[in-house]
Amino acid sequence: QRCDIGFIGLGVMGKNLTLNLADHGYRIACFDLDQSKVDAIQEQDAKERGDAPPRVVGCRSYTELLGKLEAPHLIILSVPAGEPVDHVCNHLIDAGIGADDIVVDTGNSLWTDSVEREQRYKGKFIFFSTAVSGGEVGARFGASLMPSGDPYAWTRIEPVLHAIAAKVDPKTGKPLESFEPGKPVTEGEPCATYIGPVGAGHYVKMVHNGIEYADMQLICEAYHVMRSGLGMTPVEVARIFRQWDKGVLNSYLMGISAEVLEKVDDETGQPLVDVIMDKAGQKGTGLWTAVSALQVGSPAQTIAQAVFARSISSLKDERVRAKAMLPGMETPKVDDKQRDKAIQALHDALYCSKICVYAQGFQLMELASQEHGWELDFAEIAKIWRAGCIIRAVFLQSITQAYEQNDELANLLLDPFFASQIQEFQGNWRRAVADATLMGIPCSAMSSALNYYDSYRCDVLPASLLQGQRDYFGAHTFERVDKPEGRKFHIEWSQPGQPQVAIKR
Ligand code: 6PG
Repeated sequence: QRCDIGFIGLGVMGKNLTLNLADHGYRIACFDLDQSKVDAIQEQDAKERGDAPPRVVGCRSYTELLGKLEAPHLIILSVPAGEPVDHVCNHLIDAGIGADDIVVDTGNSLWTDSVEREQRYKGKFIFFSTAVSGGEVGARFGASLMPSGDPYAWTRIEPVLHAIAAKVDPKTGKPLESFEPGKPVTEGEPCATYIGPVGAGHYVKMVHNGIEYADMQLICEAYHVMRSGLGMTPVEVARIFRQWDKGVLNSYLMGISAEVLEKVDDETGQPLVDVIMDKAGQKGTGLWTAVSALQVGSPAQTIAQAVFARSISSLKDERVRAKAMLPGMETPKVDDKQRDKAIQALHDALYCSKICVYAQGFQLMELASQEHGWELDFAEIAKIWRAGCIIRAVFLQSITQAYEQNDELANLLLDPFFASQIQEFQGNWRRAVADATLMGIPCSAMSSALNYYDSYRCDVLPASLLQGQRDYFGAHTFERVDKPEGRKFHIEWSQPGQPQVAIKR
């Protein structure tokens, strides 16, 4: 019996995606350069399938894998982004892959690489990209999938991706979950939608990760203030996070943050968070988002701040030295009443900041969509982020509704619901940022979100002075508020040695 799908790359994500496919009735031919991984997935399949026939067939070469598949072949890759993807593609060409066969890249690839690959492999096979979010558990029991590329390939891949995607209850927008091997969720709305031409899916996933960085940083800042400013223990902060997780801040990241804070280190008996080195790692997707925002000219400062916050965390030795030399402010003592008020302020600050982060992410996607002609559907994107992915949150349902009500919404902040939410909570947001600033506790994401909000709602910015400066030293010209848009003006400013006021031409 031939297999339905070929799977290459059996690391944690690849292995789990394969088992997820198997749970949905697909027979998979698997290959990995590391033969022990092929053996491991076959063992796992034997354990999970019971008396049923093997669902996973191990292969020792690319040629053997192709030979085991029904034509036209469908092959899914889960290999590290970058050169390994091309390495596998070239081996598949050598092994005889055909022009009608489809190769789906599910790694965290740079979106421009996907665009180039579609061109490079044209005529040899159809290169299709599907970004995956959800980590190990999502891959195994339902992920959020962002497919893009050849529309004909999509018609062939759609049922496969719909099967392995996370599912949402269409009435409530809440995830429908099962974490039992062999018993997948088969009902509900799948968190997989065709995003657009190749590259668009990986772009959207990249922005998802930028939002993820900012979301994580905001939670960390709230923790930092509670810990260092309000003198709370990790377990006390975890208790607050668990309460927050029941309301508007309900999210996967909030839940896992509480769990991290509750964890005790086996070796020392200390809270694990105090044992973990405070240097944040990064694989690059947040950085790509910030770089793209700068290139597109889309203000996504909170996402960029979240990347910088990781950068400054990595300067551990310098920070330790600086502490001895650069004093901040005394942290004032707070009584219980003040503490409760401060915690509520942090809650509201986190909520308002989160709205701004999503506003930035969606605005970035909108500008990129215009630039590349992708015609992204933001209601659909918000929908597939409601379950399976790392940023899944109850909040995504409100974003879905905002874009369903107005598919031309220029910015989430202009949606009546979100505008009213910020109006209600901004006092506490400002208070939380001010308090942290006065205490000398960094809150770069929260304060940058507030600055984004204040810049966005400011009808006259000092960019007029900036334009004057540019015209002064470089004759860069400026537009006038009283003349038609697009007309450029330049005046003769005073010359060196003649410090007179400018003469209007
Ligand atoms: C996801 C995650 C996933 C990965 C991050 C980690 O959506 O499943 O975003 O893609 O865990 O890329 O990124 P960093 O190592 O850069 O934090």
